[in-house]
Amino acid sequence: MIQVSNLSFSYTKKPFISDMTFSVSKGEIFGFLGPSGAGKSTLQKILIGMLTTYQGSVKVNGIECKERTKSFYEEIGVDFEFSTMYEKLTARENLEFFRSLYQKKGRPINTLLEMVGLEQDADKRVSEYSKGMKSRLNFIKALLHDPVLLCLDEPTSGLDPTNSRMMKNLILAERAKGKTILLTTHNMQDAAELCDRVAFIVGGKICALDSPHNLIMSRGAATVTYTWLDNGEHSISCPLNQISSDEQLRKLIAENRLQSIHSSEPTLNDIFMDITGRTLL
Ligand SMILES: Nc1ncnc2c1ncn2[C@@H]1O[C@H](COP(=O)(O)OP(=O)(O)OP(=O)(O)O)[C@@H](O)[C@H]1O
Ligand SMILES: [Mg+2]
Repeated sequence: MIQVSNLSFSYTKKPFISDMTFSVSKGEIFGFLGPSGAGKSTLQKILIGMLTTYQGSVKVNGIECKERTKSFYEEIGVDFEFSTMYEKLTARENLEFFRSLYQKKGRPINTLLEMVGLEQDADKRVSEYSKGMKSRLNFIKALLHDPVLLCLDEPTSGLDPTNSRMMKNLILAERAKGKTILLTTHNMQDAAELCDRVAFIVGGKICALDSPHNLIMSRGAATVTYTWLDNGEHSISCPLNQISSDEQLRKLIAENRLQSIHSSEPTLNDIFMDITGRTLL
């Protein structure tokens, strides 16, 4: 669905994105993870043909982005970082207007509104919407023309746990329909849960690219931490693959003196720290 080869781009004279190469397959959820200012939104803007002064090649759905024509957008749905609705119009009026810009018939507006629980509020002005409602509306705007590629920039940012869960389920449902999804986020839990592969981006460069599982497993073994009482509480951690030879643990188990025991794997954030020396949070 996407082939990026030797991509370079700059806003000023200083190169920002340099020599980036990667590809995304059809039906994949592909995540861009990185701290603020890393270049995630810039990269998305290149992929949707908003920034065309790049060097190298960026092909989306078989089309070189800088040579895009209007029809390019028939197959791309974008949920931008910020709300892009007309505040004085109602949700339904907004959706009807944006749908009229496409050739394709797309999905029924009522079905989309129901899908995100906005059917009761469809005839309210967007200026009366809460942040979470705007987020959900923005998301279905991206689905209006039933595109093959969805670009979602921070889709769960600022949502409460219920709305965030709903959004994640909706994203997974789109993948089940065969859509390709580009997801930009700072949220590593979301990335680990949703993405088939993630690219770590720092300073306009990809520092690592793999599935969340492989990234987590490739670095740092899981550890086991156990505690016991002996003139105060003691706690020790050891690698999970070495517990069979941990005499102290064996003794504590035999004497039934363990207070607690738990295992923990590195998180995507630990891996990000390991590779880039920076945190995502
Ligand atoms: N239109 C622009 N002109 C000049 N510089 C820009 C422009 N847009 C973005 N930048 C700069 O490019 C860099 C990357 O910005 P970008 O929006 O891609 O970051 P991001 O990774 O999406 O960050 P965030 O997580 O905060 O959304 C920043 O240093 C930003 O100031
Ligand atoms: Mg951004």
